Amino acid sequence: MKSTPEDCFFGEKSLISGCTTMNMKLLLNDPRWESLIKLSLPYQDSRRDSGHAETVTSWAVVLMEEYKAISEDASVDKEVLLIAAFLHDIGWSQISEEARLRLFDSDLSASEEDTLRLAHEKQGVELAGKLMGMVGYSKKLIDSVCTLILGHDTREGFLSVEDGILQDADKLWMVTDAGFSADLMRRGLSSSVWAGILRTRFLKDDIFYLPVSRKRALRRLLRLGQGRSVLPPGGDESPRVLICHYRVGWTDGVSLEIEKRQAVLEEMGFRVALLGGPGSTGADYVIPALDFDTDEARNISRSAFGGESDFENEEELSEAVLNLSDRVEAGVRAAFSDWDPDFILLHNIFSHGRHIAAARAFTRALEDFNRPALTTHHDFYWERDDFKNPANQWVEGFLAKYVPPVIPGMRHAVINSLAARNLLSRTGIDAMIFPDTLDFSVEPWVQDDYNNQLLKDFDLSSDDIFILQATRIVRRKGIELIPPIISKLNTPEYLRQLIGKRLYNGKFVTEKSKFVFLLAGYAELEAETYRQDFIREMESLGVPYRFLRTRIAAERATQEEGKIYSLFDTYPHADLVSYPSIYEGWGNQFIEAVFARCPVIVYEYPVYKSDIKPKGYQVVSLGDSALLGEKNLYTLSEDIITRVCDEVIGWLLSEETPCRLEENFELAKSNNSYDYLRELMRRSMAHCEGCENL
Ligand SMILES: [Fe+2]
Ligand SMILES: [Fe+2]
Repeated sequence: MKSTPEDCFFGEKSLISGCTTMNMKLLLNDPRWESLIKLSLPYQDSRRDSGHAETVTSWAVVLMEEYKAISEDASVDKEVLLIAAFLHDIGWSQISEEARLRLFDSDLSASEEDTLRLAHEKQGVELAGKLMGMVGYSKKLIDSVCTLILGHDTREGFLSVEDGILQDADKLWMVTDAGFSADLMRRGLSSSVWAGILRTRFLKDDIFYLPVSRKRALRRLLRLGQGRSVLPPGGDESPRVLICHYRVGWTDGVSLEIEKRQAVLEEMGFRVALLGGPGSTGADYVIPALDFDTDEARNISRSAFGGESDFENEEELSEAVLNLSDRVEAGVRAAFSDWDPDFILLHNIFSHGRHIAAARAFTRALEDFNRPALTTHHDFYWERDDFKNPANQWVEGFLAKYVPPVIPGMRHAVINSLAARNLLSRTGIDAMIFPDTLDFSVEPWVQDDYNNQLLKDFDLSSDDIFILQATRIVRRKGIELIPPIISKLNTPEYLRQLIGKRLYNGKFVTEKSKFVFLLAGYAELEAETYRQDFIREMESLGVPYRFLRTRIAAERATQEEGKIYSLFDTYPHADLVSYPSIYEGWGNQFIEAVFARCPVIVYEYPVYKSDIKPKGYQVVSLGDSALLGEKNLYTLSEDIITRVCDEVIGWLLSEETPCRLEENFELAKSNNSYDYLRELMRRSMAHCEGCENL
């Protein structure tokens, strides 16, 4: 049903097509205003631009409120602004239809256009004066309104706040559904081409009076250019992002990275929704079939990668994959159409081996939905022993097509340069690199009234020298490399060098001091044997240690048994941090140690060598030559252990240490802070036309 101007101006409307959500007559509490609206109706919207007066007036209200919200002593003459906005184009009604429509002709010269525009302004002034006089407005008010009407289309610059808001509101008509489609029809252009032309125009400095007007215009153009509709004036226009992963809200590395991207995107002005499988915390969309921890998904992944199989043959396996994929796809399509995202982020969906059906589901939905996307591959199936051997040709073909797929509009990212090189050589896909990042704008982690009790809670002496291992306890973290070093540091030969001296951080070393190993992370169930093995190792070497996990959680809390600390409460007590990982995708805890301004003992794992070391960090290096010994535990040669102990003493005592730690901090800040993540997010949107200006 098409709405009439009367519906729009006086109806109890909000959803009538062609109307905005504002009831015009309620905007000013004055009977003359209602009479003026009625009187002006025959002269409104005469350029086949139904709804123009009402829309421009609504925009004027929205912009006025936003202007007041940002400028403390803002004063806007609401009455003058709204009357001028409502009447600004009534002059067109006094000009012949032929001349009115001439304005849209492509062969119109600049001077002809000026003449026409000036004519509608002059006619508007005359007619507005007459109508306002008829309902009893004062001469002063009429003059103020007419000053705005005269020149609203032709003036260079802005006379006043009211003039600025009116001109902005008039331009925002071009980015409403009605205004945009009217222009498209007249010009015979496609949505994306016309949006591109308007974008270039709107980016010029002198086009808008208020920065917020430009921001709104650009956001709306993003949608309009994709052939999508926009909300009436006043709605929340923030662009939307959907982040997809098998599960969200956990504490694994991928979930943590998702959280950081969400924080940065929200700061950039996006509204973010999360999509995940069951068991997700804080997901806006849950797709049951996205769970990889079911018999169905496990059976598929085992069968697809050469493990034990419940399927008779290739056909049965392919049928099961397609069936599961179809169920995931239905959920993905429903989420896409409900949230209607402007940008889609995907994590591990197209790289992992444990749910290959999901890769096909997302590929098909993305191909149809056709929105800019960024997929980040944290782990590839070919890097994992249990996934690296596809079971048959059908699986090989499936992986080549979907894991990962090539989709127009979707960019790829990996977390280190080795993975990028690998992906390029296997698939020809050129991926961006998103290293781990940390929020460098937070307060430094220091000892305070709360965490001062941590030492007492674990029966530790403040005389002791603490080496902190902040990672989870997993075999690939190489934690067993540290106890032999601590054992040697606790011999009289080394302790003697420290006794009676102050360390770089001011700690005084006494006769009673010794090195103690603090382990803050939790052990996964499958790592329990490993944990027991190196506990025995520590015991046999006589290394003092504490597992802090019983009192560490994501956030501080006070429980009956006592205080719960965050991981960040442990760093201020550390004199050194150990990071002996044999393998890492990047190095989150390395950055944390650098942020905490602690000297770090590092094993040079492959990605450390390729992506971190070249930046120039100063560390105590464990080298890269550890060997697997008994019980599958890694060992270092005695020479290396001695060199490391000597270097540790040097770091602890040197006057230059604070300066070197500061240099490390600055390096990480420029390479791994949220500023850098923000920059990367922007770059990753370069293919999303318009996103970069939001
Ligand atoms: Fe106009
Ligand atoms: Fe206008």
